Amino acid sequence: MTKIVAFGASSSKTSMNKKLANFTANQVPNAAVNLLDLNDYEMPIYSIDKEMESGIHPLSTKFREQLHAADGIVISFAEHNGAYSSAFKNIFDWISRGGPNIWGNKPMFLLSTSPGPRGGQSVLELAVGKLSRMNTNDVQQFSLPEFEKNFSTDSGITDDALRQKFEGILDAFVSCITNS
Ligand SMILES: Cc1cc2nc3c(=O)[nH]c(=O)nc-3n(C[C@H](O)[C@H](O)[C@H](O)COP(=O)(O)O)c2cc1C
Repeated sequence: MTKIVAFGASSSKTSMNKKLANFTANQVPNAAVNLLDLNDYEMPIYSIDKEMESGIHPLSTKFREQLHAADGIVISFAEHNGAYSSAFKNIFDWISRGGPNIWGNKPMFLLSTSPGPRGGQSVLELAVGKLSRMNTNDVQQFSLPEFEKNFSTDSGITDDALRQKFEGILDAFVSCITNS
């Protein structure tokens, strides 16, 4: 089995990014998918003072352990004002304080989606830039525009051209896991 950890970088209970991350992770052949919910990792807003007073939050350590236990990581980013959701940014800040090699140098597939035609491209660009610099392994990327139009729970990505593009990128992600 290939261990994939996946999450939508959103705290919405109906997150479209969580749906896309779950779909993507389950496209990996023989995947054992560990789908995380950011609501299970809600911590105080990171501050250096809180860290000095109480140390690294135990949920931060737990989150990092899930990443490091996986063979590959799938994240789909919600775009909030052109950037990360607060829920994700807070977790990112906490886990970044738990020592080097935050993301475990695993192959990554980073995605984004939104209701609009840009599909969260701004946050995806931000995430790919940052996480590529923090990872010695390959980072793949895909943005799905107009989620409601182009995705269905039963069939996944419904638009043929987008589906074909997605599958090419998925293949690259799977090859990278196989060769790691
Ligand atoms: C505070 C806030 C800011 C947002 N900013 C953006 C934005 O900059 N660009 C965008 O495409 N959508 C933006 N949206 C719309 C989100 O793309 C939309 O809520 C989407 O459902 C988020 O994904 P999720 O369902 O996974 O949480 C914003 C939504 C909220 C609540």
